[in-house]
Amino acid sequence: MKTLMRSAVTGLAVLTLLAGCELGSKDVVQRGYRGTGMELVMVPEDRVAHVNANQPPEPAPPQPAVGPKAGDIYQNVQVLGHLSIGEFTRLMASITEWVAPEQGCNYCHNPQNLADDSKYTKKVSRVMIAMTQRTNEAWKDHVGNVGVTCYTCHRGNNIPVNVWAADPGPKRATGMVGQTPQNYASESVGLASLPYDPFSSMLLGDRDIGGVQADTALPMGHPTDLRDAEWTYALMMHFSQSLGVNCTYCHNSRAFNQWEQASPAKVTAWHGIRMVREINGEFIEPTTPWLPEHRKGPLGDALKTNCKTCHQGAYKPLYGAEMLQYYPNLAELGEGVEDLDLFED
Ligand code: HEC
Ligand code: HEC
Ligand code: HEC
Ligand code: HEC
Repeated sequence: MKTLMRSAVTGLAVLTLLAGCELGSKDVVQRGYRGTGMELVMVPEDRVAHVNANQPPEPAPPQPAVGPKAGDIYQNVQVLGHLSIGEFTRLMASITEWVAPEQGCNYCHNPQNLADDSKYTKKVSRVMIAMTQRTNEAWKDHVGNVGVTCYTCHRGNNIPVNVWAADPGPKRATGMVGQTPQNYASESVGLASLPYDPFSSMLLGDRDIGGVQADTALPMGHPTDLRDAEWTYALMMHFSQSLGVNCTYCHNSRAFNQWEQASPAKVTAWHGIRMVREINGEFIEPTTPWLPEHRKGPLGDALKTNCKTCHQGAYKPLYGAEMLQYYPNLAELGEGVEDLDLFED
């Protein structure tokens, strides 16, 4: 009897201990040199479901680049004037499918006059077209041949599901006045007690990332500061969550600051940080005056991009499906567009 009790208690204790673990089989993928422990652990069923949910839509049938240009026929085309009428119409149809499948053309257009710019959605879209082209053209070090289309971020939604705005934090902060805004469990940083808005300063602003690990035993005037560590870790939690990977996908965790020991993905991520700053600072922020109140964050700024906007839990958006090849019109800016002021009213 006693033995039975004891084993029941032991059983319960083991169950309680294991409640925090995920049971079932795991796949382990090696990401670095043998013995460095740079491994990615995945639950196969979860991964399969996620891969299935992250497939690109069927591309529209291609249209010839010959014949009259949109710029010659239409009245108000500023960024797509170099496309043939066939290519232009195809892109309008695809944009509708990617961004406003329920509302259709009138989400951006005044049906009485397609050249009219009175809807803010049309003006924002013009900027978004230029932003997408610029990203594909100038940030190949990050987006490679996979590239981005409106679908990468929007996935059939008017506003991408994963966006951020400046976060005012809880009404009454638990920390001391003047302390780094933190200590409230925010989804943005994996519910950790870390600064909850690492985005404003590091994915819009260019606050330095790092300064965590010194290479001397004593500080020796090294800029290392506890706050730098907190901000850096907050952003890193976001990286891991957005890509569905752990820290060793990019780092050898014995030396987070060493580039020689890191995986090539860390270099890709470095370019990604700079790319996102440009997307937010050069394209999205300037649209703020056009946006209605309900499209702004609690502090009145535009909803912006972070790593999750494109990646959505995959190490490559849409698991690396090369969707851009079917939309070469989004691969580069049209001639002269760089000199346009897309933001004048
Ligand atoms: C998500 C926004 C959006 C949707 C939806 C959309 N368009 Fe457009 N459309 C634009 C933008 C932006 C321009 C201007 C492009 C430029 O400046 O080069 C434009 C321009 C046009 C023009 C040129 C009008 C002129 O004379 O200047 C036509 C024609 C057009 N669209 C047709 C359509 C059709 C047809 C649909 C539906 C199948 C559609 N659009 C859906 C954003 C949109
Ligand atoms: C890198 C991610 C990203 C890509 C790529 C992208 N968008 Fe957006 N889009 C956003 C974000 C973030 C917002 C919210 C900010 C804003 O409204 O300016 C937004 C907002 C919009 C809106 C405003 C919708 C509303 O209801 O307020 C339209 C329209 C739009 N995008 C069209 C497009 C089109 C068309 C493309 C492709 C040519 C595109 N976007 C590509 C991130 C993206
Ligand atoms: C997708 C790639 C990626 C992932 C995943 C990632 N990091 Fe990073 N990490 C970087 C990049 C890139 C930098 C350098 C940023 C820069 O210099 O602008 C960096 C910098 C750092 C630094 C600063 C090192 C120094 O110079 O002092 C630390 C610490 C760090 N990461 C920790 C982590 C931790 C902990 C995790 C997991 C929670 C993580 N990282 C996940 C890409 C990644
Ligand atoms: C505009 C969309 C977009 C945004 C935003 C974005 N990425 Fe990416 N990222 C891509 C694309 C597309 C690829 C695939 C490139 C390729 O396969 O050549 C990629 C690839 C990567 C890779 C390489 C993965 C591998 O296995 O080789 C890393 C790491 C990465 N991104 C990190 C980040 C981080 C960190 C951020 C935020 C700072 C970020 N990305 C933001 C589009 C984006």
